[in-house]
Amino acid sequence: MSTSDPAPANTGFPTGRRAFPHRDLLAIAQLERHEILYVLHEAERWLSFNRRAAKHNDVLAGLTVINAFFEASTRTLLSFEIAGKRLGADMINMHAAQSSVRKGETLIDTAMTLNAMRADAIVIRHGSSGAVALIADKVGCPVLNAGDGTHEHPTQALLDALTLRHALRRRGESGDDFTGMTVCICGDITHSRVARSNLLCLQALGATVRVCAPPTLMPAQIAAMGAEPFHDFDAALRGVDVVMMLRLQSERMNGALLPSAREFHHLYGLNRRRLDLAAPGALVMHPGPMNRGVEIDSDIADLAERSLVTRQVETGVAVRMACLEILTRTARGVGGWGDGSGTVAEASS
Ligand code: CP
Repeated sequence: MSTSDPAPANTGFPTGRRAFPHRDLLAIAQLERHEILYVLHEAERWLSFNRRAAKHNDVLAGLTVINAFFEASTRTLLSFEIAGKRLGADMINMHAAQSSVRKGETLIDTAMTLNAMRADAIVIRHGSSGAVALIADKVGCPVLNAGDGTHEHPTQALLDALTLRHALRRRGESGDDFTGMTVCICGDITHSRVARSNLLCLQALGATVRVCAPPTLMPAQIAAMGAEPFHDFDAALRGVDVVMMLRLQSERMNGALLPSAREFHHLYGLNRRRLDLAAPGALVMHPGPMNRGVEIDSDIADLAERSLVTRQVETGVAVRMACLEILTRTARGVGGWGDGSGTVAEASS
């Protein structure tokens, strides 16, 4: 570690590879509760580090990280890029729209090409559920899922959990465990990888989760995941501690699932009257991008002390720094998922 590294605390987490025994970060579903807590713990130090004037650390110096984004992104792409650069890695962005994917190259051939370039980690966003796991199976370095179709967006859920933890601490509450807290996730649940990852993460940390959507945007199996489903937003909001709003993912909808955005706003938009149904001081979250005036009114999105939207973005950089640092430990020869030799295995094919 460089002298600019924040000192790691003695935390009681397992050490070495037992702290996080995974090569890839593909889904919250793959993580144990203590592994989620470990990532949050590691991200804490980068959160304070990022508030310094000088934000450079060389822990990933000499490593190459590729951001391969097959779908549009502002927050996730830029925060992974900033995260890697602050840790000293060489960050390369591959936008599918300007790549040979446009000439018909397959996903597997693209993965093999990235692998041949000896990246030390690859961050991937893709429109198809399972595509990131498919690529992970073909490359010899850690893969981080930056969102795959309607499946998962694990770093979003981790950053949301850390944002919530800090919001609770600012109020003088512990925040380390979400037991006793009720969160309502509202919007297009069917198409939302954020909803799925957050549901799993929040439940793992002890929260009760309600989900609210029109019948056409509520997955049939949601109750089996332990969430309490609502179609009436007013009823769903009563007494909740946190309201997490989601945008309509029209790019994933086949046909019209709603009469109109205006109708959706009328029934499911978060406004002042509705927020007052939640617990006093209830917090508001949104992963972005927001559609103001559709799923959330502007005055609620910007509500001082209650809306965590910009804090979510800030926390995202710290969480992605932690994820990159943890997953590249084997490549850096400092523990991690491998045998500790510092060599990365050959790709499986
Ligand atoms: N929350 C989120 O994933 O935003 P982007 O699509 O801008 O990355």
